[in-house]
Amino acid sequence: MPSILSADFANLQREIERIPSADALHVDVMDNHFVPNLTLGLPVVESIRAVTEHMLDLHLMIDDPDRWAPGYAEAGAESVTFHVEAAAAPVRLARELRARGARAGMALKPATPIEPYADLLGELDMVLVMTVEPGFGGQKFLDLCLPKIRRTRELIGAQGGDIWLQVDGGVSLETVERCVEAGADALVAGSAVFGADDPDAMISRLKERAQPVASD
Ligand code: DX5
Ligand code: ZN
Repeated sequence: MPSILSADFANLQREIERIPSADALHVDVMDNHFVPNLTLGLPVVESIRAVTEHMLDLHLMIDDPDRWAPGYAEAGAESVTFHVEAAAAPVRLARELRARGARAGMALKPATPIEPYADLLGELDMVLVMTVEPGFGGQKFLDLCLPKIRRTRELIGAQGGDIWLQVDGGVSLETVERCVEAGADALVAGSAVFGADDPDAMISRLKERAQPVASD
């Protein structure tokens, strides 16, 4: 999933049209409080919704998602992910998102463990393990997050059901295999895609490299 954070914000529609192979558009909402950066909010998400059929995968890096996240589901985003560090009542929030027809995602910053939230997995459609500190594109992938991806995969396996395990931050041709080997099945890439001469071809290359290597 390409993150449009690394796209040209003055030409979002044109940028989206450059990536027809995308399985979804990852949209990073930042409020300058939860993270030290400001991006876009509900009006821009509504405008994006109006010009694309792509699945919208919202990543809310905002304070008080309990208050704001349901509005993004109402705007027609198929997936809405909140940061558990910012949520006052993650179970209630996940239920509110699902009640509005969205997949409910829960994101973890690099220093946030998954174990305290293991019992919440039945309320969720996705866990997002951040592999950089959230806030900016183009940062270096943090290998220290790989054990958490593995532990999250185990917990999801034990839970059963269709819960996606997303990785976001520093995903590139160099790091994508590590993510998949650790158990990720939804990969976000921002600078790797939009920094390429041909963003759509880069999506194909990343998907190819993400295929588990067939043993012979
Ligand atoms: C960072 C965002 C990411 C960002 C990833 O806080 O959540 O989605 O766009 O960018 P890259 O792939 O460049 O690390
Ligand atoms: Zn993101």
